[in-house]
Amino acid sequence: MGPQRQMMDVVVRSTGRYVPERVFLNHEFESFLDTSDQWITERTGIKERHLAAPGESVSDMSLHAARQALERAGLGPEDIDLIVVATVTGDTVFPSTANWLQGKLGNTRGWSFDINAACSGFIYSLSTVTALLRSGQARRALLVGAEKMSAILDFTDRASCVLFGDAAAALVLEAVEPEQNGEGYGIGEFYLGSDGSLAEILYQPCGGSSSPPTFSSVQRHGHYVKMQGQDVYKNAVRRMDEVVDGVLKKQGVAPESVDWFIAHQANVRIIDSVRERMKLPAERFYVNIQRYGNTTSATIPLCLDELVCDGRLSAGQNLVLFTFGAGLTWGSAFLKWGVPAGLAPAPGDIAKRDISDNEEAAAGAPAAPVEVQR
Ligand SMILES: CC(C)(COP(=O)(O)OP(=O)(O)OC[C@H]1O[C@@H](n2cnc3c(N)ncnc32)[C@H](O)[C@@H]1OP(=O)(O)O)[C@@H](O)C(=O)NCCC(=O)NCCS
Repeated sequence: MGPQRQMMDVVVRSTGRYVPERVFLNHEFESFLDTSDQWITERTGIKERHLAAPGESVSDMSLHAARQALERAGLGPEDIDLIVVATVTGDTVFPSTANWLQGKLGNTRGWSFDINAACSGFIYSLSTVTALLRSGQARRALLVGAEKMSAILDFTDRASCVLFGDAAAALVLEAVEPEQNGEGYGIGEFYLGSDGSLAEILYQPCGGSSSPPTFSSVQRHGHYVKMQGQDVYKNAVRRMDEVVDGVLKKQGVAPESVDWFIAHQANVRIIDSVRERMKLPAERFYVNIQRYGNTTSATIPLCLDELVCDGRLSAGQNLVLFTFGAGLTWGSAFLKWGVPAGLAPAPGDIAKRDISDNEEAAAGAPAAPVEVQR
C-alpha cells in the first residue's frame, strides 16, 4: 500500500464542439424513403442533422472539439494527462479513437482510451474520468463524446436512419484541492446501471468478433444499426425517470434546486414524458434535438457547450445530466457548474465570442439534396 491520498474535487474547466458542415434536412429523406418531414418532426422532434464528409473520421471531429475546449481553458495539448473518447463509431476497431486523437493533438505525456456505452457513453466516461481525477491518477483530462453515426446507419430503414446524426463535443476536466474549491463547484454524484439481457433491442450485429465481416453480412445489412424502436422507447422512459430521481436522492437535492436538466437527445417525446411525469418546468430542460438528431455519445456535451456559448450557464448553477442507450445502459450525473477562482477563464465567461467556424458555415450550407455518402 502506498501513502493515502486526499480525494480531489473535479471541475469542468471548458467545453468545445464540432458539427460537420453538411446539414441534412428531413425532407431530403423523402426522395429515397417512404417518410415525410411531418412524420419525423411529429414523432421525434428532429428537423435536421449534420452528416460527416466521406473522409471525415471521428478522431477528426474530436480534434476540432478538443482544440476548442483546450483553447478556451488556456491550455495546450501537453497540459493534458488523460484522454478519453466516448464513441461506438470509432475510427478503427483498434487502436482506440482516443489514441488516434492523441496522435493528432500531438500529446505525448498522456494516456488514452475509449469507452463504449452507446448513448450512455458520455455519462459513463464522465464517471470514469471523475474517479481517475478524484483519486489522483491524472490531473487534467480531455473527455470527448463523438460519433459518426452515418457510417453505421441503414439508409433503407426509415425507422432508424432518420433519428441519428454526427457530431463531437469535448470537456476539459481538472482535479482541484477541496480547500481551493470553497464554492463546492464540480462533479457530484452519479447514478448508473445497465441490463445486458436487452442487448438485442438496439445493436450493430456484425463486424465484431462474434460475426466478422463477410460478403453475406454486408449483403444483409448486418453492419448497420438494428433497432426495435418501441421496446427502446418504453425502456427509455422508465429508466430516464429512475436516473433523475436516483441521482437527486443520492445528492440530497430537491428537483426545484436544479437549474438545468440536460437529457440525452433521442426523441423529444421521451424528454417531454419524463418532464411531465416528474412535473418539472419545461424552461429548465435544454433541447436541441431539432438541429442535430441523436448524436449518441455527443448529445449531452453538445448541449453543455451550446449553453456555455449562449451565456446561459453560470457559476453556481445545479445541473442534472441524464441518459439511456443501447446495452441497455442508463445513467445520470449531478454537477454544480463553475470553476474556482484561479482556474481562469471560467466557462461562464466565454459567452458568444467563439462559436465554431463550421457552425457558421453550416448555417449557410446549401439545402440542395446530395447523395448520402459514407
Ligand atoms: C423509432 C420511433 C420514433 C418510432 O415512433 P413510433 O411512434 O413508436 O412509431 P411505431 O414504431 O409505432 O411505428 C408507427 C408507424 O410508423 C411507421 N414509421 C416508422 N418510421 C417511419 C418514418 N421514418 N416515416 C414514416 N413512417 C415511419 C412504422 O412503419 C409504423 O407503420 P405501420 O403502423 O404501418 O406499421 C420511436 O419508437 C422511438 O423514438 N423509439 C426510441 C428510439 C431511440 O431513442 N433510439 C435511440 C436510443 S438511444
